Amino acid sequence: MAKDKDSDLLNPASYTPNFSYRRGALSCERVSLAAIAARAGTPTYIYGRAAFTSAYRRFRRALRGTPHSICYAVKANSNLAILRAFARMGSSFDIVSAGELFRLRRIGVSGERIVFSGVGKTREEIREALRARILLFNVESAEELEILASEAARIGRAAPAAIRVNPDIEAGGHPHIATGHHRHKFGVDWPEARRLYLLHKDSLWIDWKGISGHIGSQITRVAPFRAAATRLAGYFRDLSNEGIALRYLDIGGGLGIRYTNENPPSIEEYVAVLPKSLRALGCHLLLEPGRALIGQAGVLLTRVLYIKSSRGKTFIVVDAAMNDLIRPALYGATHPITPVNRPRASAKISPVDIVGPICESGDSFLHDWPMPEVQPGDLLVIWGAGAYGFAESSNYNSRPRSAEILVQGSRFRIIRRRETREDLIRGERLS
Ligand code: LLP
Repeated sequence: MAKDKDSDLLNPASYTPNFSYRRGALSCERVSLAAIAARAGTPTYIYGRAAFTSAYRRFRRALRGTPHSICYAVKANSNLAILRAFARMGSSFDIVSAGELFRLRRIGVSGERIVFSGVGKTREEIREALRARILLFNVESAEELEILASEAARIGRAAPAAIRVNPDIEAGGHPHIATGHHRHKFGVDWPEARRLYLLHKDSLWIDWKGISGHIGSQITRVAPFRAAATRLAGYFRDLSNEGIALRYLDIGGGLGIRYTNENPPSIEEYVAVLPKSLRALGCHLLLEPGRALIGQAGVLLTRVLYIKSSRGKTFIVVDAAMNDLIRPALYGATHPITPVNRPRASAKISPVDIVGPICESGDSFLHDWPMPEVQPGDLLVIWGAGAYGFAESSNYNSRPRSAEILVQGSRFRIIRRRETREDLIRGERLS
């Protein structure tokens, strides 16, 4: 088993849904990646619709019989076409800013399908979300709760609220994306949360609807989810004994995916740990998956610019950079890279560094990565880039952001055009 996994390592197509070799070259569904490069250029993000729709449906199927809403975490990939595809399948959404709210309203998603998380909601954002009549505010501090109550009073309608409780669980994952421990900035400790629930028990302007607890991201074991669900269920019950009858239990997101040799629980295994502790509560479960829905559905297509050898090291310089995909630089994340053309079985594999053109050493995708020989002009695929890829891209080094493509069957369309030079300076003023 472990051996199979290692041999898969250089062939992410073998574990990435809906990418495969057709006539010796990689395709997304039935579209060749080379055809996309010919039309849209590189670097370009490519998403396969079948992969994320099937991930969404697997959540739905696994949750059959449990009252629930899947609230896709917009931050993972907020392209309007992706959001609309989720909306059409009936998804709800988790937002963390008024900008994300704006995106959802642009595609006609109504407020009752939106939950609002985040540790720093501004008064204006709260006001906008109240006006949009969202389903739930996941409140992260006493101060935020006061602002929420005052804004609700201003418009004369109680705010549907939950407290994001920090369940004090170490869930693993990279330190930058772990959130569920008491030393993190997120959520409210249970004693304080309990105090706030009771303080606003009969408040006119806070309508306690739920409790929430997102514990982190790229979590690859079920145990932390089980622990968090059990704790939240206990708090839910305690509040109910105090006469605060909640409806929603929001377990957050965080389910990890396989980038290289991780072995995360499947969607089904993950879902299976939840209802056990929750069924007895009679609550409506909210989930906020991002990465597990869209992460494996996307890749970043790039082209080899130069091959540079220096003191026995080989650098492959590609046209994608850390501004396009910052996860390796920011989290030390490993995104495998392979050629679009399937290497011959006899191809010699040697270790290379794959780097971008940006002027800093951190602009490096992989070190000592086994690669068959490639030439300038060859297309390469950077895998596992559907979540937190384009969404975290920037214009650093005055590089226009890449195009995004959505593939469906044998067709593809540009869902975001490549930025132009004019886009780079939009909004800037000389006087
Ligand atoms: N709900 C809340 C409140 C969150 O903060 C997040 C992610 C999610 C849901 C979705 O988590 P997911 O299912 O995608 O793990 N930029 C990092 C990930 C940051 C995650 C932030 N919060 C990365 O590239 O790995």
